[in-house]
Amino acid sequence: MQVAIARLEEWMRLYYHNVDHDIGSSGVRDVTIEELRTICGFELSELDPMVFHDSESFGGRALRAALADRWTGGDVGRMMVTHGSSEAIYIVMHTVLEPGDEIVVVDPAYQQLYDVAGALGCRIARWGLRGDDGFAADLTALRTLAAHRPRMIVVNFPHNPTGISVTPQQQRELVAIAAEAGAWLVWDHAFGELTYSAAPLPPPVWYDRCIAFGTFSKSYGLAGIRVGWCVAPPELLARMAVLRDYIALYVSPVLEFFAEKAVRNADRIVAMQQAHAAGNLRLLADWAARMGDRVRLHPPDGGVTAFVEFPGRLDVTGMCRRLAERHRVLLVPGECFGDDFRGFARLGFGGTTAELTAGLSAIEEVLREDSSVTGGRLAAGA
Ligand SMILES: Cc1ncc(COP(=O)(O)O)c(C=O)c1O
Repeated sequence: MQVAIARLEEWMRLYYHNVDHDIGSSGVRDVTIEELRTICGFELSELDPMVFHDSESFGGRALRAALADRWTGGDVGRMMVTHGSSEAIYIVMHTVLEPGDEIVVVDPAYQQLYDVAGALGCRIARWGLRGDDGFAADLTALRTLAAHRPRMIVVNFPHNPTGISVTPQQQRELVAIAAEAGAWLVWDHAFGELTYSAAPLPPPVWYDRCIAFGTFSKSYGLAGIRVGWCVAPPELLARMAVLRDYIALYVSPVLEFFAEKAVRNADRIVAMQQAHAAGNLRLLADWAARMGDRVRLHPPDGGVTAFVEFPGRLDVTGMCRRLAERHRVLLVPGECFGDDFRGFARLGFGGTTAELTAGLSAIEEVLREDSSVTGGRLAAGA
């Protein structure tokens, strides 16, 4: 099986660990074990009696129950604990899809959401969100694509990289479109808990062909525990476990211990991260306003990324490379989300306010350097 290079992950491999200021990632500020202990109120000595025993294929009982209480009204039969949602994406695509199937995927998108299917020999139809209309979700366009009766419709709201989301009414319409097409609806809510303009939208688990992914990596600041989850019908989870037996078998009980504490205290963790990210978003919006026509910001509804446009700038990837290599600032070129997005960059504002401020100043400096070289032509949009 030939998989395409995961462009975003490759960029991260190059720069994530080699910069001082991260304004490219899609997660909130990661917490320490001490902070997690303080927020959740537990001692590390609680781990002492733990035996290094196997966990279960669908997830350890305590964590699975905690996740089910939060997402499926307590129905543990529809919940699987995975190694990040990445593992869930991989297993779902391999279990549900066959060569020649058509899938409709929001575009741009986190690459794994379509290129696992691509590697399996599926046809990918893109449901485009575009900057000229603020990346708004066009459900009429989705309905047209769904008329081909795809096997699966894959969406991610709030969306990576733009941060845009849909209203509850649009969500219901989206479910209706999937139902009319008889399609699986893959609802990636990696950023679902962290919103600004409206209350978080629960994944549409009432639809019997909904598959929902969630993760501790984004809204909780726990990327390093590599734990995620998948909500799906029990028969599908059972088929997924068959494939999982060849991959990672189960998640470490040590990691599940921390994850369970986090889910049981999720509201407090998310409220803390949301308040911090909302403050940073205001700072980002002020900066973008000051930058005038050199930068176009489409304000995100949720998550901690914005897809920032640099009008008239032909080589945003080169600019991001310069930021990383000369200024030790991580910004992700839009190209990592497809060739159509070369004029954009993903800007992450979930980290510390100090690194956001430093990162934004570095962008300003690079833009200033460029405009002095070109006599202002680039900055003026030539
Ligand atoms: C939309 C989306 N889904 C899933 C993932 C995978 O995250 P993880 O494997 O850390 O849960 C990411 C990571 O960036 C993402 O952006």
